[in-house]
Amino acid sequence: MTASPALLELAVDIAREAGELAARRRREGVSIAATKSALADIVTEADREVESLIRDRIAAERPDDGFLGEESGAGESRSGLTWVVDPIDGTVNYAYGIPAYAVSIGIVSGRPDPAAWTALAGVVFNPAVGDLFRAAQGEGAWLGDRRLAVNDPVSDAGALLATGFGYDPATHAGDLARLTKVMPLARDIRRIGAASLDLAGVAAGRLDGYFERGLHPWDMAAGALMVTEAGGRVGGIGGAAAGRSMTIAAGPDLFARLTEIIVE
Ligand code: IPD
Ligand code: CA
Repeated sequence: MTASPALLELAVDIAREAGELAARRRREGVSIAATKSALADIVTEADREVESLIRDRIAAERPDDGFLGEESGAGESRSGLTWVVDPIDGTVNYAYGIPAYAVSIGIVSGRPDPAAWTALAGVVFNPAVGDLFRAAQGEGAWLGDRRLAVNDPVSDAGALLATGFGYDPATHAGDLARLTKVMPLARDIRRIGAASLDLAGVAAGRLDGYFERGLHPWDMAAGALMVTEAGGRVGGIGGAAAGRSMTIAAGPDLFARLTEIIVE
């Protein structure tokens, strides 16, 4: 199965509308609706409202497609396609007013699990700065009319690496130990706070590489396709698929070096 141009266009259209709603709600003021897996893991009313807008539009235009979203769970697919959606990735940035958050929409075929799916199309839209990244399988990754390409090999000065830390404090010691091991490869580290933007950043050459433990399918469905369509590689530990246990993304040369170091 491949993504028709019309399917990507629909995803772009929905991401734009959703992003504009998120930005509008941000301007009006944001309040935290609840905490989820940990006290630091928050959801705002806007996350829920934006996800319902996306879900309703998909249901109206593609009623047979499945849905997997961060805030409202899963809906069965009859077409074989599933939309994997993070309505506001970077919710903590959003709540604090840091302009690094994004609507992330991936369309996958097969079981909506990163180890099993084939990603067909993806859109990552940061309405705070107006960046709309898009990719379709075999058609490249794009930011506006610029076709994206990962940095490969990286500069002799070392790699600009991004990472993230899980919400669960119990994982922090492991996250920091991993970072210490990776540090010799790095010219510097970024913690941007939105996995979809980290991945799109690797695709666009704004970052050389990215790694993080604990990602959910909606954090990475769109961004991982962008990296591979921009000539990069995405995977987990020891040749496993990227997923909850680890996601590593970079150009081929740096990817090989990172996967040698990141073994847990
Ligand atoms: C989070 C962000 C963050 C990453 C977390 C994600 P959310 O998503 O992508 O950068 O470190 O693992 O859960 O909660 O802002 O949608
Ligand atoms: Ca997310």
